[in-house]
Amino acid sequence: MRAFMVERYGAETGVHAAEVPQPKVGVDDVLVRIHAASVNPLDLKVRDGDFKVILPYRVPFVLGNDLAGTVVEVGSAVTRFSVGDEVYSRPDKDRIGTFAELIAVHQDDVAPKPTTLTMAEAASLPLVALTAWQALVERAHVRPGQKVLIHAGSGGVGTIAIQLAKHLGAQVATTTSTANLDVVKSLGADVVVDYKRQAFETVLHDYDVVLDSLGGENLEKSLRVLKPGGKVISIAGPPDAAFARELGANPVLRTAMAALSFRIRRRARRRRVTYEFLFMQAGGDQLRELTALVDAGAIRPVIDRAFPFESTREALEYVGKGRAKAGKVVVTMT
Ligand SMILES: NC(=O)c1ccc[n+]([C@@H]2O[C@H](COP(=O)([O-])OP(=O)(O)OC[C@H]3O[C@@H](n4cnc5c(N)ncnc54)[C@H](OP(=O)(O)O)[C@@H]3O)[C@@H](O)[C@H]2O)c1
Repeated sequence: MRAFMVERYGAETGVHAAEVPQPKVGVDDVLVRIHAASVNPLDLKVRDGDFKVILPYRVPFVLGNDLAGTVVEVGSAVTRFSVGDEVYSRPDKDRIGTFAELIAVHQDDVAPKPTTLTMAEAASLPLVALTAWQALVERAHVRPGQKVLIHAGSGGVGTIAIQLAKHLGAQVATTTSTANLDVVKSLGADVVVDYKRQAFETVLHDYDVVLDSLGGENLEKSLRVLKPGGKVISIAGPPDAAFARELGANPVLRTAMAALSFRIRRRARRRRVTYEFLFMQAGGDQLRELTALVDAGAIRPVIDRAFPFESTREALEYVGKGRAKAGKVVVTMT
């Protein structure tokens, strides 16, 4: 089958099209013919070797973390899917490889594709929608009436997180550039801060939850908009000890990760708020909940641009250069 591989880590080398053997199908796996995949900043970080410590993929490997497609074979223990089912998935972090014609995925990491979406639209969702779900539902337990700030509202995560927070009944603020003000308003944001013209920390106050996807100074300033007892969940800030435990890291790595987030945790404590790092996980059951929300019209995908499969390398470069509009970049196989 055709696939886009990382043969050597590094942005300069990029990914290369190659002919590789079909994936082996385990007893609990479904083999999916991929119709569309989407590009995430994670792909670029993996390609460039930035995540080697936590995601030590051995080259050569197939890149790609999101897919939508059709089940073409099922393992002997598969109970949840049949041949012909239309599905979507963010495969487990140890089994990536969606820039390919086929992939074998554990049945627990797969969900029925929303019937109201095209394959390309569905492929844009799993990683970012699961991230939004795990931040806002699982970690923050967002309740109606709470004030939630979603940073980078025009991004892959932001476009979905705004809609999910609104669905949960929150009052939602978001940050975005001037060009994307209308997009984030159309997704339901109640308060929009143009980060090119205004410092969000001077206009937003008494927030219950912040979803930070920028890290650095943005994360530090985010502490200031929280009310006492509030929570910042960062998907781009320094990892914490809880993440190291989740990863099964050795004691040295655990100590190193706790040290990396020491400063921000101390600052948070002084403000009587909490800091948590989130690294999203695959999960078919959560994806099923998201399928229901999409089909009920509560969440819609936002696509910036689609590329043909043969142009996967260009799609990655387009994302690397900061995209042009809002939302996700997808590659389509058919
Ligand atoms: N830890 C995890 O599990 C996890 C999961 C998913 C993503 N992530 C990380 O989270 C980050 C965002 O992911 P994504 O998929 O949403 O990326 P994305 O689609 O590339 O979106 C990034 C967005 O950031 C916006 N932006 C840039 N500077 C900004 C600023 N100062 N204030 C507000 N917005 C700003 C840009 O919008 P404008 O055009 O409006 O400037 C852009 O739309 C990436 O670093 C990714 O690796 C982590």
